[in-house]
Amino acid sequence: PPPGWAVRADVVVVGSGIAGLTAALRYAELAPAAKVLVVTKDVLSAGSTQWAQGGIAAVLDPGDSAAEHLSDTLVAGVGLCDVPAVRALVTEGPGALRRLMAHGARFDRDAEGELQLTREGGHRRNRIVHAGGDATGAEVQRALVEAARRSHIEIIEHALVLDLLKDAEGRAAGITLHVMGEGARDGVGAVRANAVVLATGGMGQIYSSTTNPVVSTGDGVALALRAGAEVRDLEFVQFHPTVLWLGGGATGQQPLISEAVRGEGAVLIDAAGERFMRGVHELADLAPRDVVAKAITRRMRETGAEHVYLDGRHFGEEKWRTRFPTIYAVCREHGIDPAREPIPVAPAAHYASGGVRTDLRGRTTVPGLYACGEVACTGVHGANRLASNSLLEGLVFAERIAADILGSEHAPGEPVRPDGPTGLVDPRARPRIQGWMSRGAGVLRSGESLREVARALVDARWTPVAVEPCTESWETTNLLTVATVLVAAAARREETRGSHWREDHPEADDTRWLAHLDATLSQEGL
Ligand code: SIN
Repeated sequence: PPPGWAVRADVVVVGSGIAGLTAALRYAELAPAAKVLVVTKDVLSAGSTQWAQGGIAAVLDPGDSAAEHLSDTLVAGVGLCDVPAVRALVTEGPGALRRLMAHGARFDRDAEGELQLTREGGHRRNRIVHAGGDATGAEVQRALVEAARRSHIEIIEHALVLDLLKDAEGRAAGITLHVMGEGARDGVGAVRANAVVLATGGMGQIYSSTTNPVVSTGDGVALALRAGAEVRDLEFVQFHPTVLWLGGGATGQQPLISEAVRGEGAVLIDAAGERFMRGVHELADLAPRDVVAKAITRRMRETGAEHVYLDGRHFGEEKWRTRFPTIYAVCREHGIDPAREPIPVAPAAHYASGGVRTDLRGRTTVPGLYACGEVACTGVHGANRLASNSLLEGLVFAERIAADILGSEHAPGEPVRPDGPTGLVDPRARPRIQGWMSRGAGVLRSGESLREVARALVDARWTPVAVEPCTESWETTNLLTVATVLVAAAARREETRGSHWREDHPEADDTRWLAHLDATLSQEGL
């Protein structure tokens, strides 16, 4: 539908998690006279950031070094990290974290007032800053939302982004969006802007079981694809190893059991009580996430079990209550007492390591369009993200984007009509798409399973009924677009690397695949 209303801004930021709000706040600080607009699909705090438990990785201990953080990140990324991007992440991280604290975020400190640092999988040092024990994301989101509300940043909530507006030269000129229940700005409208920053988060909802909230439907990746931007490495979906198992049929957002629980000494066991991570990796239960997720999946297959267990009984009730209050409460809600019994856990979709391809300044391949946070592929995660590097990436690259926009402002011409989705998908297809993706393109894939999903996704595109344009049909269209490109990349990469695990190609193949997979919609024939 044509836009019914239009507003102007210097910069429009799409998304309100750590990446979006940091980009907006930083730009507003650097350019106090500028009009900065944040649009977000739900309320400001609804995205993934608030759910983050473990924390933010940063080199703050005098015994630690940026070189070691860099090395751990590269090991986890299995040959596909971009070294200059990781260097930017680990060297600029501590400064960005301090600026986050200056916005009001409060992290846990010891009796001497020093920041407490914990460990997670793949880290050889204690370098994870956390808040409220295991409620880091909630504290970060609280602080950023309050800072945004105190600033002169304008905000439109309940605004689902639809498409990028481009001028005749192909430069980003704004966005179209669908707003619900916001008075004069109800319905489909447009924001004209000199720069567009995508910070829409992840796409975990393409799977039936995920740690991601319901809003994580890949909208930014789908928009970027429709706008002709390149995406990179979509096949690398990280499955978090320890997600609370709520029964075989549980779907939607599932409760995370932070890696920090293993960082503090809990261990994985199978139904017979065997510690199966010993002997799998020198770091045992603290191996990088892909190694642990694979070992759990293997053990589940060998024993025919639907889950394994995380044993932290030795913490005792006091430590569970104080160090992991969120996890303790969620376990108790589901009838599990982690101080007395091991917690049933299984892997679930957690994080998209790939995304919209950017350079070190956060620029995508479409001029004037930036991406940061989970929606982006900046090159810091490679084939598998290191734990607690995601909030850090959101901070560091959002700041880089703000600086780049400031240094390169350029007014686009009049927008030409966006291409838009060619056909909307029936929202009733959503659970089917999620089921196919979980079965055929999940933690373990094969050429055959991927071909089957690809065929099912093609069929889902053809809808025999007229589909109403609404949030549900746009989201389902986005899920289908993203799933289709992801499955094509996963089929193409005939090897096992990082979080991409091919049953029919179980080894890494450095001779052919030490390379990225870039894709555009036209390459995929969409
Ligand atoms: C966790 O707390 O285990 C999640 C941290 C992350 O995804 O980086």
